[in-house]
Amino acid sequence: MMAEQPLLEARSVSKRFGSVIALSDINMAVRPREVHCLLGDNGAGKSTLIKTFAGVHQPTEGELRVDGAPVQFGSPREALDTGIATVFQDLALVPLMSATRNFFMGREPVIGRGPFRRFDARTAERITAQEMWKIGIDVRDPTQPVGTMSGGERQCLAIARAVYFGAKVLILDEPTSALGVSQASMVLRYVARAKAAGLGVIFITHNVHHAFPVGDSFTLLNRGRSLGTHTKDEVSRDELMDMMAGGKEMADLEAELKAAAQQETDPKAEQAETQIAEDLHQESQKVH
Ligand SMILES: Nc1ncnc2c1ncn2[C@@H]1O[C@H](COP(=O)(O)OP(=O)(O)OP(=O)(O)O)[C@@H](O)[C@H]1O
Ligand SMILES: [Mg+2]
Repeated sequence: MMAEQPLLEARSVSKRFGSVIALSDINMAVRPREVHCLLGDNGAGKSTLIKTFAGVHQPTEGELRVDGAPVQFGSPREALDTGIATVFQDLALVPLMSATRNFFMGREPVIGRGPFRRFDARTAERITAQEMWKIGIDVRDPTQPVGTMSGGERQCLAIARAVYFGAKVLILDEPTSALGVSQASMVLRYVARAKAAGLGVIFITHNVHHAFPVGDSFTLLNRGRSLGTHTKDEVSRDELMDMMAGGKEMADLEAELKAAAQQETDPKAEQAETQIAEDLHQESQKVH
């Protein structure tokens, strides 16, 4: 899989907002039939990175490549036209509009000519119901407002729309974070299907339990820097969890214990604490 040409790639991408360094020297690539999970804590730079892929932001340094060729996206529309479809966390769905209208969103099929040209509601409703059915969601009434659908169904609608309109890379920003277990698995199942259909998927999440079952590779961001990319055979779920959360806490605790050990006068206690600090150090070395 790794030999295959990436569909989408970031090379040494940095992004600054004034004095804030949101991204620093990021390398990441997604290939066909790959689910690449982007993990990291709040403020790590995940959304900034995918907004750069999506044409919302331009990199301050570095470049993006699509199918191996350098590209510059002036707008999200340009990214979409190259086949990079992004489902942002707020989804950009309109709750009061029907499922069908949200599915087409400005790309509605029309019938008739000249003054008789009009929205082909029948075709649009049939396609919406059919595409949703393909992913296991039974939309009984395609005229139903999106606001009455569940969170998982809405995510799936936004994803189905991207796939139907020919995306080759699908970028999902925290699609499962607001969902319960069964709805999250509905979305994850669909991520696996998009992969089977040949797409490259970038899947952002805080939740290693959501990332691990569907992910082929994992990139961890920490305060705008990449902690590297690991393929699934190189890393376990526990190691990923430690890298996500444990890493920093461990380092802090280690420093705290060292400082305490220096103040300590009792040689026995000092020895014990130094030992703990050393063990922790080794533990965190293992993790990184
Ligand atoms: N438009 C902007 N202007 C200034 N700073 C920004 C802008 N967008 C993001 N940042 C800063 O960049 C850093 C990374 O933010 P980003 O939203 O990419 O993080 P994230 O990993 O998506 O976090 P979360 O998990 O909370 O969504 C933060 O410090 C944020 O304040
Ligand atoms: Mg974010």
